[in-house]
Amino acid sequence: MKQQLSLQAPAKINLYLRVLNQRSDGFHNLSSLMHMVGLYDRLTFEAQETDLTLAISGNPLPSDASNLVLKAATLLQKEMIDEGYPRKGAHITLHKTIPVSAGLAGGSSDAAATLVGLNRLWSLFWPKQKLARLGAVLGSDVPFFFDGPAAWISGRGEKVTPVSDNIQGWVVLVHPEIPVSTAAVFRAYASRAGLTKQGSPLNIKPEKLRPSETEILAHPLNDLESVTLTRFPLLNAVKQTLRDLGGVFVLMSGSGPTLFALFGHQEEAEKTARQMPKVMRGTALKAWAVPLLWTSPFEEIF
Ligand code: C5P
Repeated sequence: MKQQLSLQAPAKINLYLRVLNQRSDGFHNLSSLMHMVGLYDRLTFEAQETDLTLAISGNPLPSDASNLVLKAATLLQKEMIDEGYPRKGAHITLHKTIPVSAGLAGGSSDAAATLVGLNRLWSLFWPKQKLARLGAVLGSDVPFFFDGPAAWISGRGEKVTPVSDNIQGWVVLVHPEIPVSTAAVFRAYASRAGLTKQGSPLNIKPEKLRPSETEILAHPLNDLESVTLTRFPLLNAVKQTLRDLGGVFVLMSGSGPTLFALFGHQEEAEKTARQMPKVMRGTALKAWAVPLLWTSPFEEIF
């Protein structure tokens, strides 16, 4: 029988996000509290001789070399060969549920799941720190997924400090179907805040920008939110509707456009997710009620 392995790749939300300054490489230093949530893509890895192939189901997405899953698999395979291991291949299937370009880091989670899955399928047993270093090359959000379910991230995303007393509860995710470019949102924020590669107006150590859970919950803050909300005013109406339906903490995730609200109880969250498309009739959006995760689905694979 062929060796096979399946993994769930969770989405993330940002419960707090500050942009500190612009770096000489053009990326921005951040201080953000990220949390995994129970909305998943599903990946299956099947051993094959030497080739890397990918099949996609669910939400449409290109399955060519531009796909982060294939990029992650190719990177791991190259590293393995460079270190003197024999070349191995895999057929990967990706069932896509997490919306793309949504601020939920679905592509980064898929890339992390690929590194975790192939590390096991190919019996490399490399430590997660090594996989996280490889993942950082693929995208700023990838390293977080090796240290979930909750962590402070800094640098451009590569410095990850796990949080043990993670926040508990239910989340309603609302994805208005608007394509948002992360790069464009960062550019607009930098120009508005006067951040340049030369200067750094907010010259604060990221560790100093880690408020307590109580402070975070009292003052929802994502520096990128006003950029995306100004560009797409419809998002203000979505936020207001989430508040009207009982959401206690309503914020945009990452560069958006996904908005989320926290709820204490599952039933309340599920009811709100069902109501959202009805209340906002005429607006193309999807809504899910999902838990904040207590454990990372990748943890048991290591
Ligand atoms: O790393 P990733 O591919 O997710 O980043 C997408 C874009 O978002 C980058 O090309 C960059 O313009 C912007 N970005 C940034 N600073 C970060 C993360 C992302 O400027 N810390």
